[in-house]
Amino acid sequence: MDYAATLEDALARIAAVQDLGALEGLRVEFLGKQGSISGLLKTLGAMSAEQRQTTGPQIHALREGVTAALAERKAALESAALEARLASETIDLTLPAPAAPRGSVHPVSQVMDELAEIFADMGFAVATGPEIEDDWHNFTALNIPESHPARAMHDTFYFPDKDAEGRAMLLRTHTSPVQIRAMLDVVKQDPGGAPIRIIAPGRVYRSDSDATHTPMFHQVEGLVIDKGIHLGHLKWTLETFLKAFFERDDIVLRLRPSYFPFTEPSVEVDVGFAIVNGKRVLGGSGDAPGHGWMELLGSGMVNRKVIAAGGLDPDEWQGFAFGAGIDRLAMLKYGMDDLRAFFDGDVRWNAHYGFNPNDVPTLSGGVGTAA
Ligand code: PHE
Repeated sequence: MDYAATLEDALARIAAVQDLGALEGLRVEFLGKQGSISGLLKTLGAMSAEQRQTTGPQIHALREGVTAALAERKAALESAALEARLASETIDLTLPAPAAPRGSVHPVSQVMDELAEIFADMGFAVATGPEIEDDWHNFTALNIPESHPARAMHDTFYFPDKDAEGRAMLLRTHTSPVQIRAMLDVVKQDPGGAPIRIIAPGRVYRSDSDATHTPMFHQVEGLVIDKGIHLGHLKWTLETFLKAFFERDDIVLRLRPSYFPFTEPSVEVDVGFAIVNGKRVLGGSGDAPGHGWMELLGSGMVNRKVIAAGGLDPDEWQGFAFGAGIDRLAMLKYGMDDLRAFFDGDVRWNAHYGFNPNDVPTLSGGVGTAA
């Protein structure tokens, strides 16, 4: 057999190959398990010693020559492919920059961030609870009896099926069930109880719809549980929060007796405003001439029955709670007048009222700088 001619023939075929797939085909044809050169190597075993001495080196030279030629051709084809890719993937640096991203932070998200920032400074953690609740957490544990009008079908969205424990399932109508969950969580970790300071912002649902009511809206709950807590702590906390939130030192509050099943006593909190150019501007006493009071949120001392439902001893632990509408806080601070537009998803509204994602609210830098 003429090994030199075989080598020459193989090298010519390798040199002629134009792509990596075909080259791999040749490698298999020559050097694969069933390959022609592999076959030649196998014949060495059956040869006499003298024959092997002359033929062996020729076959090995053939194999090495083909192996080297394959490697060299492979490297050449790969670098040609890379060159072609680099040539086709050029960037024209003289083109104008792409338009700046136009996404913005929704006012509800912005206000939630502002609330977390302000209350974190007063030692409050942010807690959450499920939007799909059971009627025990949403009503019963909060001292809202079966006959209470808030339980009526026209206010509450109920699910058709009960849960595994036989409780009616619903979309929570307020963030107050998070009070119960926060207390039960603390008792689970520490059966004797421990102080709690949380805010719980989130979505709530009521079957209601007009210019100031949407079936889904946002509330923030506040809960403080400790020993010796009284109404003064509640008033100071709300005053400090509202001054920081509205970025005004002249915010004046009026506490009015009210009723909520889960607080005793209950207080409705009004904030004083002035009429400036026909618009209400928060600040100052509502009793001054040309001023008025605006209802802002509900609050009170946590009812003993609610503390007990949370697993704590009401003789030992007291607390206050409050609940405020986040959408309403946003409207008052940033001047929108129709609540429904909040949830229409119109990009023009979002562009107008939205916030720059890079403007993270901080107490030092300001908690509300419009984009
Ligand atoms: N949960 C009440 C509501 O939705 C608000 C509230 C919360 C009142 C906590 C008192 C204390 O109207």
